Amino acid sequence: MKTAELQTPALIVSSAILDRNLKTMAEALPGGRCRPHVKAHKTTELAKRQVEVGHVTFCCATVKEMEGMAAAGLGEDLLLANEVLDTTRLGKLDARVTVAVDSDETVQAASSGGVREVLIDVNVGLPRCGVSPEDAPRLADLARSLGLSVRGVMGYEGHAIGLDDEEARRSLTEEAMDILTKVHGEVGGDLISAGGTGTFRINTWATEIQAGSYALMDVAYAKLGLPFELAVSVLATVISVSPGYAVADAGLKSLGMDHGNPEIDEGHQVMFVSDEHLSFMPSAPVKVGDRLRVLPAHVDPTVAYHSHMHVVDGEDVLESWGVDLRGW
Ligand SMILES: Cc1ncc(COP(=O)(O)O)c(C=O)c1O
Repeated sequence: MKTAELQTPALIVSSAILDRNLKTMAEALPGGRCRPHVKAHKTTELAKRQVEVGHVTFCCATVKEMEGMAAAGLGEDLLLANEVLDTTRLGKLDARVTVAVDSDETVQAASSGGVREVLIDVNVGLPRCGVSPEDAPRLADLARSLGLSVRGVMGYEGHAIGLDDEEARRSLTEEAMDILTKVHGEVGGDLISAGGTGTFRINTWATEIQAGSYALMDVAYAKLGLPFELAVSVLATVISVSPGYAVADAGLKSLGMDHGNPEIDEGHQVMFVSDEHLSFMPSAPVKVGDRLRVLPAHVDPTVAYHSHMHVVDGEDVLESWGVDLRGW
């Protein structure tokens, strides 16, 4: 099959670039040093390629991702790096399941849902989940008193990860990991789980890095000078041409827009994106029916809009993978 035969908008992944990105990460952080986050690609077939380069432990953000990974035989060591109160589905999984906890309620939910292992999720500066550092040892004691095994700590430095300025990224990561390593000294366990694509090199304190975006990348991350290339695009068709501008059929229902506008591979200037439309000023003449590669600003929500990702070599579609970890 050729890409010209795909219905648009269609999620396209370059097979060669994906392989290079996975290999680059596996060389930098081999084996258990990287715990790839599946939230960015939501695709078990892609996770299987991560296993082929030696990454067999994974992070998930949703119960559905945990279920899908276990069902695909990828459950050697799954971390739900997120808080969850309805744990009933987790306790039933045929997999090694660890869950992040940051409150009495999430500890109790883990215990009553049949989960056996937890990580104490510590707030290291991002105003999101995470127990305060002072309260972490008490929470670990509570977990142990309920029979849970505490594997260590987690602390996501999401406030540092996307900063353009590498020095600012480094110093904020250091501050965050200073907090996390101190708490780890009090809580114990083997794991210090933190980091992501933007800090995979900088964060030398974590025992494992939870990187997700590096496999497919996006326009926002491509600006940080990381050794990963853009593997993903949304194939679109020009559906209307007017004097001075044209319109393609990839709107914000096929593109994650929270990190700003997408870019267009051919150098056309994006004007604005609406539900089903992308209006742009062409850098060279375009006609109705032309195909464009639109480069998403944020990979995670972009992938979540699509039921399939088509793995390509140039114009040849090699495989079409179901984005099977979508949903809740
Ligand atoms: C808990 C957690 N860990 C790690 C990541 C890192 O992901 P990425 O590599 O895409 O920056 C994220 C991203 O949102 C996250 O929420």
